[in-house]
Amino acid sequence: AVRDTAEEEGCSVYLVGGFVRDLLLFVPTQDLDFVVEGSGGQFATALMKRMPDGKLTQHIQFGTAQIIFPDGSHLDVASTRWEYYSFPGALPQVEESCLRDDLFRRDFTINSMAICLNAEHYGELVDYYGGKRDLQQRKIRFLHNISFIDDPTRMLRAIRFSERYQFDLDKETREALYTAIESGVLSKLSVERFTEEILLIFKEINYLGMGRALISSGLFKAWFGKEYDWNFDFEEQEDCASWSLNTRWLMALSKMDSIAICKLLERVCLNKSLRDDTMTFVRMREALKEPLTLSELDRLVNKAPKGVVMVLARDGRFSKLIEEALEASQRINMSLDGKALLEMGIKEGPGIGEILDRVRMAWLEGRICTAEEEKGIVRQ
Ligand code: CTP
Repeated sequence: AVRDTAEEEGCSVYLVGGFVRDLLLFVPTQDLDFVVEGSGGQFATALMKRMPDGKLTQHIQFGTAQIIFPDGSHLDVASTRWEYYSFPGALPQVEESCLRDDLFRRDFTINSMAICLNAEHYGELVDYYGGKRDLQQRKIRFLHNISFIDDPTRMLRAIRFSERYQFDLDKETREALYTAIESGVLSKLSVERFTEEILLIFKEINYLGMGRALISSGLFKAWFGKEYDWNFDFEEQEDCASWSLNTRWLMALSKMDSIAICKLLERVCLNKSLRDDTMTFVRMREALKEPLTLSELDRLVNKAPKGVVMVLARDGRFSKLIEEALEASQRINMSLDGKALLEMGIKEGPGIGEILDRVRMAWLEGRICTAEEEKGIVRQ
């Protein structure tokens, strides 16, 4: 469809960026990024005629368009463009350009290749800046030495790609990275953009290696303003790869004291689920330090998200307590609920909740073990 539309519209169309890199590395990838020498918006609109179930969104300011399909997959179309930054960390200003310039504005050589999709050069690789050579030599190399100053998120991207593919940073690129970190350019980055990049890292399989690199490069210290006690050192045999994003995040924070965690949260802009889990983790950890009745412990452990409980259970100070609470809750086989109590003639109101709590406690403490005995507790 892309090739035919390109012919119809009489423009040159290329696949670019991460897709080309991963194709050459034989790594499966889903994101498709196209650039068009001409109007990306016009091309995307024409392409839509061949993709009737797609939904088109245009971002005229950036010269980009996106087609989203019902299964959630999408493809991005942009006009070849030159981007420049009014100040470090700003969103780019956009001007039309040719493919060569479009590829030159990119972050690293391995991300600066394109594949032509027009019929007469279909499938040909365009590699002006040595991307293929650097893929073979396993190198992350910038295209120009103010790359990190223009866009400080590229510092995090350099670490992400280097650890993802186990590539080295080229010597000059590494030096530029360290110089950029020391120069304080990160302070020009918004908390939102930093958070986006950090969460991309936490989603990577090898996020532990990336986390360690963020610490050893001094990047975390430069952003957060001090050394936090991050935890990216888990045993090989641990099943870190299967942990959810929230669990990974909490594990990384788990060695910090609660005041440090609250301070650190001022430097990131987390979504509600991550922020809530982090605050629940902090509150629950503080609560577990105090003496608790079985019912208080039960309420804490069984109401908290599973990931939070799992991370706390790995803390030697609380593992026994949590294990006890979980074991006790397994004894519970409650048949009564609010509706059943109403049917038994109990009046609607706070009394219902209290009775259910009493029944639950009886189960927890092993005082009852049948539905009949539950009713006895209700009558008490
Ligand atoms: N790009 C860039 N500078 C950035 C972000 C992106 O130059 N700060 C360019 C790169 O050419 C990159 C392309 O835009 O390949 C697409 O960016 P993105 O989708 O964020 O990354 P991918 O390279 O596709 O990486 P990933 O596999 O993580 O999706």
